[in-house]
Amino acid sequence: MQIDVCSEQHMSARPLDQQSIEDVLTKLATLKRVMHESDLHAAAEEVEQDVRRLNEKLVISNEQLAAANADLEAFSYSVAHDLRSPIRQIAGFSKILIEEYAAQLPAEARRYLNKVEQGAQQMGSLVDDLLHLSQVGRQALSLQITPLNSLVATALEVLQPECSGRNIEWRLDSLSSVACDRGLMKQALVNLLSNAIKYSRPRDPAVIEVGQTIMDGEQVIFIRDNGVGFDMKYADKLFGVFQRLHAASEFDGTGIGLATVERIIRKHGGRIWAQSERDRGTTFFFTAGSRNSAGA
Ligand SMILES: Nc1ncnc2c1ncn2[C@@H]1O[C@H](COP(=O)(O)OP(=O)(O)OP(=O)(O)O)[C@@H](O)[C@H]1O
Ligand SMILES: [Mg+2]
Repeated sequence: MQIDVCSEQHMSARPLDQQSIEDVLTKLATLKRVMHESDLHAAAEEVEQDVRRLNEKLVISNEQLAAANADLEAFSYSVAHDLRSPIRQIAGFSKILIEEYAAQLPAEARRYLNKVEQGAQQMGSLVDDLLHLSQVGRQALSLQITPLNSLVATALEVLQPECSGRNIEWRLDSLSSVACDRGLMKQALVNLLSNAIKYSRPRDPAVIEVGQTIMDGEQVIFIRDNGVGFDMKYADKLFGVFQRLHAASEFDGTGIGLATVERIIRKHGGRIWAQSERDRGTTFFFTAGSRNSAGA
């Protein structure tokens, strides 16, 4: 499914009325050259009117974009929601066929049925993740001052099964408290830590660090691993829906985790970015919103 439910991003990136902006700039340049006071006044009024007209256009196109974005959001939500039940039926009935009628089926038919069941399971996970991503967009934030260390601890409890059989050296620094929606921020941490655990699977020991630092006067939280990393050439793809930089045969996943994280962080007014080197590891950095600047 190629629906880009992150179109909020596109709102700010969309080129506006370029020609009008250029016209205004040309008039401003003329204005600078004008020496006579009355000319200056007339030219300034003209520019002011142009700017007002331009501003009205911008307001209208922003409203249209917001409406289109809400439509897309509603569309992807209902598609994901309505697909759940038929996908479950396909997975459920294939499983019953495999389990209860295996003896009556030729080996080839069993093999095909296994593939149907696996495909349906995978599609079910995709749709669930997509639905969850859409819900993050629709949900209102409930901000509470929260010690981040307690959220990290809860996230690690959720991830316990993924750590079993692994040798992971955890380095958990002391983190400050931030104003955040606890449920959503925990979800963001679960996704980031789950990636750190997953993509450091070949390491023994894997070293995963959660810490905080100050960058340009801003408080930044980071999650670092010594895993397989990725080529920074593809870093702009990371937070896109269904974008994966590793093959499914190597590491499983649906490619929605980071899109969800980015949306949660953006909802909090923060930013997220990554630094990575192939075979050397990855660090994800994020700010938890403008209310949480350093020293605040
Ligand atoms: N810590 C990391 N180290 C190396 N690559 C990473 C890391 N985190 C994310 N990636 C890359 O970014 C891609 C997108 O991550 P994302 O979490 O969205 O998807 P996923 O882990 O593949 O699946 P899921 O939706 O189940 O989380 C991954 O497929 C992987 O290629
Ligand atoms: Mg992931």
